[in-house]
Amino acid sequence: MNPTWVMGYPDGHEEGTFLALDMGGTNLRVCEIILPEEKGEFEIIQSKYKMPEELKTGNSEELWEYIADCIQQFIEYHHEVDELENQEEKIPLGFTFSYPATQDYIDHGILQRWTKGFDISGVEGKDVASLFDAALKKRKLPIKLSALINDTTGTLIASHYTDDTMQIGCIFGTGCNAAYMENCGSVGKIAHLNLDPNMPIAINCEYGAFDNEHAVLPRTPYDIIIDEESPRPGQQAFEKMIAGLYLGELFRLVLVDLHDNKNIHIFEHQDIAKLRKAYSMDASFLSSIEEDPFENLSETADLMLRTLGLSVTKPELELCRRLAELIGTRAARLSACGVAAICKKKNIESCHVGADGSVFNKYPHFKARGAQALREMMDWPKGTKDKVVILPAEDGSGVGAALIAALTMKRVREGNLAGIRNTEGMR
Ligand code: GLC
Repeated sequence: MNPTWVMGYPDGHEEGTFLALDMGGTNLRVCEIILPEEKGEFEIIQSKYKMPEELKTGNSEELWEYIADCIQQFIEYHHEVDELENQEEKIPLGFTFSYPATQDYIDHGILQRWTKGFDISGVEGKDVASLFDAALKKRKLPIKLSALINDTTGTLIASHYTDDTMQIGCIFGTGCNAAYMENCGSVGKIAHLNLDPNMPIAINCEYGAFDNEHAVLPRTPYDIIIDEESPRPGQQAFEKMIAGLYLGELFRLVLVDLHDNKNIHIFEHQDIAKLRKAYSMDASFLSSIEEDPFENLSETADLMLRTLGLSVTKPELELCRRLAELIGTRAARLSACGVAAICKKKNIESCHVGADGSVFNKYPHFKARGAQALREMMDWPKGTKDKVVILPAEDGSGVGAALIAALTMKRVREGNLAGIRNTEGMR
C-alpha cells in the first residue's frame, strides 16, 4: 500500500505540453501529450521501443543509458535541434515506473524490489528519480522530471479524466495491481506529516504481493515451482498466480509434469524438448487455445505442432483446452478479488473500474469471468444490473502520467506542497 503523492483527480482543465515515459514490463514508450483547453481532451504522439531481453538482467547504468537514448531519439525526431538548444523552459515529464517504489515525494521513489521477472543490479534500494535525472543531465536534455508514477495510478487518473465514475485503476497484464483514492487521515504511513485528514491521496496497492506469507490462497505444485525458479522467490505470490507473465509457464509446467508421470500417458513417444524450455510460451499461447472455434480443436493441433513439434491426439487436445480454461478462469476470478477488496474497504457500492493490460485486453473470456466472480463476491441480487463494472481504461502510462505531471505543477502554483521535493524546479 504505497502512498503516491497524487493528491486528487484532474478537473478536466489541465493544460500544456508534457512528455511521458512508460517503463512497463515489455516495452519502453516515449510520448508527447498535449492537454488542450477543452475539458477531457488530449492529443498524443508516441514511439515504442522494445526492451532488449538482456537489459532485464543487466545493470543500472545500461538501463539508464538505454532510457536516455530512447528519449533523446524521440525528442530529436520531433523537435529541431536548435529549438531544443534554445529551449529555456524544460519540458515536464511524467515517468511511469511500474514497480513498487517507496515515495517520500512524488518526484522521488526508492525501488523496493524488481517484479515481473526483472533483475537489474544496482537499482533496488536506490532513488530511481535521481538515477533518471542524472541520465538526463548527462545528455543535457531539456527535460525535468515532474512526477514518478505507477501504471495503476496513471490508469486511475486518466480514466477518471474522461469518466468521473471511475474510482479504481487496474492493470491485468504482465503484472497485476490496482490503485484507488484514499483520504490522508486513513493512511498510517503518512500520519507523522499531520496533513489535512480529508485531503485525497492515491494509493498504489501493489497487491501483486498479496499473500506472500501463503496464509490465504491454496497453491498448486506448479505455483511453487514458478516462485522458486523466479529471480525473487517469496515475492509477488498473488501476481504469480494470475498475471500474464506466468500463465503460459503454468500451462507448460502442468504438461511436463503429466508427461513425466509414468501412470499418465500423454505425448507418448514424442520428443518434448521444446516443451521443456522454461518460459517458452506466453499467455498468447493460451489465448489461441481458448479461442480455437473448432469442435475438433484443429487450430490447437496446428499450434502444438508448429510451436512445440508435437502431434497431439484428440484427448490430449481436450486436455490442453481444459487446462487453458482452468488457468485462465483462476486468473480472472482471483483478479476480480482485488477489485472486490478495494470496494469493500472503501464501502464502494457502485462505480466504474478502469482496467488496462494485455490480459484484460486480449485474453478471451477474461472480462466475463471476472465480472461473474465480482457478482458472486458482491452479492448483488440475481437479475439486477452489475453495480461495479470493469471497463477498458484510458492510456494511464501516457495520458495519466501527463495529467499527474500537470496536477503536480498546479499544486506547486497553488502552494499545496505536500509530497513534492523539487518545488523550485517545478515552478
Ligand atoms: C507489478 C508491479 C506493479 C505494477 C504491476 C502492473 O505488480 O510491481 O507496480 O503496477 O506489475 O504493471
